[in-house]
This record gives sequence, structure tokens and C-alpha cells, in this order.
Amino acid sequence: MNLANGFTPYPVSTIGYDTKNPRWEVVDNYTMSHSHPASRPNASTLQDTLAASETAKLPEISVSPAQAKFMALMLRMLNVTHALEVGTLGGYSAIWLASENPQLHVTTVECDARFVEVARKNIEHAGLSERIEVINATGLDALALLKEEVLRGDRPRFGFVFIDADKPNSWNYFNMAADMCQSKAAICVDNVVRDGRVADADDQHPHILGGRLVIENAGKDPRVDTAVVQTVGCKGYDGFLWAVVN
Ligand code: DHB
Ligand code: MG
Repeated sequence: MNLANGFTPYPVSTIGYDTKNPRWEVVDNYTMSHSHPASRPNASTLQDTLAASETAKLPEISVSPAQAKFMALMLRMLNVTHALEVGTLGGYSAIWLASENPQLHVTTVECDARFVEVARKNIEHAGLSERIEVINATGLDALALLKEEVLRGDRPRFGFVFIDADKPNSWNYFNMAADMCQSKAAICVDNVVRDGRVADADDQHPHILGGRLVIENAGKDPRVDTAVVQTVGCKGYDGFLWAVVN
């Protein structure tokens, strides 16, 4: 599927992180060195993925290793067989999810053709091309088509969705994803706290408004139940929304 010809992606890294504490990164490094040592089968592949993404000058906004592994473990617990991701970037999170879950197929959507090329190479290098499908399209176009397929019964419902793309559309993605999920599926939306700016009513940055919209709309949505978890770590201070589909 290629629906992204001529599309200008929403700019990333427009606001950065202001709140920093070197200890958060030290602790992430310490804890990951023990919870995911180099002896784990996917450890070197994951490092290679980050290195290749850096060499290709992709924005350095991949999910943190700890958050990626946490999500992967949740999928193992839920025995998820089909996951959807919006915002592939270099494929780092998709590779985490698939490499920790042999039962899992990942469908991941990325509008930037250059990112797609890097991601497909990383996925190939990880030996996961059979289980990770990268769709080069805008999130709105891809999810509209996927939703048609799911509702027609031509594609299985998703047991997990990770929304980590252009922040102003987070609610639109969530809204479409909820209709494609099976009962007890989880939906995770990244970057909804952003240095705590989410709670500053005067802050009208489009990324912040996007986070607020998904928190407020999902919170009153009868299809789901939600919690927002604040995080600190190697990426600074942020947080994710976690939803469970009824
Ligand atoms: C940005 C996007 C992300 O998904 C993230 O985790 C961190 C930062 C950004 O666009 O700045
Ligand atoms: Mg993110």
C-alpha cells in the first residue's frame, strides 16, 4: 500500500524536552543492562536498528528501550497475535514487539518514504519481514482502509495498537483504532504528558493540544477505559495513555 506520494509529513521534534535529570538516563541504562543484557537474542539487532536509524539521520525520537520492552511484555501476557502501530520511524518499536513475541504479526504505518526504507532494511536485518508489514501511507488513509478490511472480515481485529505519530491526529487514530480492536485489546498513545505541559491550559502547542484531546475524548468514550502513566527516563519527562477496549 502506498498512499503517501507527495505528502509532507508533520514536523517532528518541534518542541524538545525541557525537564532533564541526568539520573533518569543513568537509571534507564543501569536497569536495562540487567533486564535486557547483551546475551538476550534480540539485543544486538535492536542496537543495530538504533545505529542504522542514527546513520540515516532519522529524528532521534524512538520510544525508550524500557517502554518498548514493557509494551512487548504486555503483548506476551495478552497473547496478542495482531498489533497495529501508527508511526514506524526506523522500525525500532515494531522490532521490539515482534522479536519478543513469536506469535505476533505487526502492521505498522509510516507516511515518510525515507523512514519506510530505513525501517524495512532494519526489519529485514532483524529477520522479521514475514511478521512486520510496513505500510507507506498517511495514518488517516491507512487506518481508513484497514478499518474497511477489518469490518468486512478480511483482516483480523487487533489485540494491541501503539499510536506514536503526528500528535495532532492522536485522537483520530485512537477513534479509528478502537473500532478495529477485539475485546480486551490495549491501545497505547505515546507522548501525552510532554514535560507536564499537558496540564498547562495556556499551552496551545499543537502537539500538546493533541495529547489533551485524546486524554479527554478517550476518558469519556464508552468503548474503552483509560489511565495516563507519567514516565521519566533516557527520553526525559513524558507519559503514555493506556486504554483497554471493552
Ligand atoms: C516526538 C515524537 C515522539 O513520538 C516522541 O516519542 C518524542 C518526541 C517529537 O515529535 O518531538
Ligand atoms: Mg513517541
